[in-house]
Amino acid sequence: MLILGIETSCDETGLALYDGDVGLLAHRVHSQVDMHSAYGGVVPELASRDHIRRVLPLLEDILAESGRTRSDIDAIAVTEGPGLAGALLVGAGLAHALGYALGRPVVGVHHLEGHLLSPLLARPAPSFPFVALLVSGGHTQLMRVGGVGDYELLGETLDDAAGEAFDKTAQLLGLGYPGGPAVSRLAEFGVEGAYHLPRPMLNSGDLNFSFSGLKTAVLTAAQRAGNLCEQVRADIARAFVAAVVDVLATKAMAALDRTGLDTLVVAGGVGANAQLRERLQEEAGRRGVQLHFPPAALCTDNGAMIALAGLARLRAGAGSRSGSFGVQPRWPLGS
Ligand code: KG4
Ligand code: ZN
Repeated sequence: MLILGIETSCDETGLALYDGDVGLLAHRVHSQVDMHSAYGGVVPELASRDHIRRVLPLLEDILAESGRTRSDIDAIAVTEGPGLAGALLVGAGLAHALGYALGRPVVGVHHLEGHLLSPLLARPAPSFPFVALLVSGGHTQLMRVGGVGDYELLGETLDDAAGEAFDKTAQLLGLGYPGGPAVSRLAEFGVEGAYHLPRPMLNSGDLNFSFSGLKTAVLTAAQRAGNLCEQVRADIARAFVAAVVDVLATKAMAALDRTGLDTLVVAGGVGANAQLRERLQEEAGRRGVQLHFPPAALCTDNGAMIALAGLARLRAGAGSRSGSFGVQPRWPLGS
């Protein structure tokens, strides 16, 4: 079965062709980061307009790359939510128009389910059940994943997401938007121990997180430093990354202890973070835990994870939607 995946929930236009037998045939992502960076964050109306410009050329690109035509597509998976309403509608519009024209089923995918299942794009793929650490721009969650559609929330952030904390720290340090990769790179030049930042909720005894206090601690450190020369910014970035990584890794290991599972998968944009990967690899090696990441390019938003989740849904007997047409900007994963 050849499935087309379409992702337009935020500031990346992602399209992919996934073959149920062969795997991923082609995928393309257009990032709007340069366009939004002038505004310090995503401007929803600009995002929608740019998705409109990009979706069809990207579709032609992946068809050409995989040597397929539109009529080879057997089903279409599209991010139905959560996300920006106007942006989601662009993807849904394309999916349903194609589905109608080709007479193919359209399956709406939850964006977070796409991230959760994205480690299955890696080889070797993890087997169920596993603990998933989902760390994106909007979410920080630990889940027990028993199978497709079987998700138990173990803990989550009570305020900011880890990615949001990276982005806000980047702003405070004058690194622009989005800040995750920039903070991570700058941290490499920081001196270990030059600053020490708090580890919020490290010993809270549950699997929840809180990152808003850390952002305030970064602000206070920056204000105290006064002159934010390159080295001071790098030192603060290093302390920030160390604090986030410490909390994420400690809680992820606690989630494995609590569930009795020995497989951890990491998904979402922050999963691309080099320091987090290194720390988790160390811990996993020590404890005999199997650790899985999506390929780095598929950690952030993309169409491949949506195609894969859509295929899993179709195989699990999900009713395909055609004719009706809607998006769910707010959509709790549990429902
Ligand atoms: O999963 P994602 O692409 O989009 C959402 O669904 O939110 O995650 C985006 C987030 C942003 O906050 C970005 O700063 C962060 O992931 N991010 C990183 C890295 N790459 C992306 N954070 C830390 N280190 C990175 N290398
Ligand atoms: Zn995402």
